[in-house]
Amino acid sequence: MNFYHQLSAPSPVSEGLSPARVSRCTLQGRTVYLKTIPKLFAPTTYSVRREGAVMAWLQGKLRVPQVIECGETGDSEYLIMTELTGQHIDCLMDSPEDYVTQLARAIRAVQAVDIRSCPFVSNLDTRLRELSYLLENGLADTDPAHWQQSTAFSSPQALYRWLVENRPAEDPVFSHGDISANFFIENGEPCFYDLARMGVADRWADIALALRDIREVCPALEPLFFEKLGIAPDPQKIDYYILLDELF
Ligand SMILES: Nc1ncnc2c1ncn2[C@@H]1O[C@H](COP(=O)(O)OP(=O)(O)O)[C@@H](O)[C@H]1O
Ligand SMILES: [Mg+2]
Repeated sequence: MNFYHQLSAPSPVSEGLSPARVSRCTLQGRTVYLKTIPKLFAPTTYSVRREGAVMAWLQGKLRVPQVIECGETGDSEYLIMTELTGQHIDCLMDSPEDYVTQLARAIRAVQAVDIRSCPFVSNLDTRLRELSYLLENGLADTDPAHWQQSTAFSSPQALYRWLVENRPAEDPVFSHGDISANFFIENGEPCFYDLARMGVADRWADIALALRDIREVCPALEPLFFEKLGIAPDPQKIDYYILLDELF
């Protein structure tokens, strides 16, 4: 808790649907980010302790923040990290070709990380096990208003059962887990944050979530995305990984 008690001038960063809280703070005169999450999420890929461990492991492998301190306070886990700068990927939505190109580059950079000594696993065993925990503890995002229009299940449990019964075979690569809005571009290189779900997972996990955004922003550029990735679309896996994300 050395640095935690020295943080000052916290200003909350606008929150999305995630259960984590993020603030921009000052520490010894420089800007840092504090991320906290209730300890109930400790056994899941929302854990900011997990995020800190992934961040430390990725130093020298991908551009990510540095861990300043990771620990527990009261009912929460916390992570203090350095600030990333650059142009946020979402700022490129007005130039859709650049947007799609940078998303594909970011995915290629993540998938180029060597997984042979990677201790972090985010595969379907892990994700379905944690989804069961999240559902049992009322922590899953079960609001159908947050689902894609094409997601037609009568209940979160029905969707969970479908995911368990329709698991596709996995092609393991390093994966971000929540890639679409979670990186900056600096000097042409992607710099990633929101790393809690990173680990070894199927090649299509990141591609599907990036594609979900491309379909909203510039659907006509779907073919360009696959051209930049150098891969042909796999519609079944795309659908599966978009559905898997619905309850997170
Ligand atoms: N290290 C960082 N450097 C710069 N901005 C950050 C950093 N960490 C978080 N942010 C900002 O805070 C926001 C929320 O952080 P994120 O880790 O994505 O939390 P969540 O899990 O709620 O999505 C990000 O969209 C980004 O704008
Ligand atoms: Mg985020």
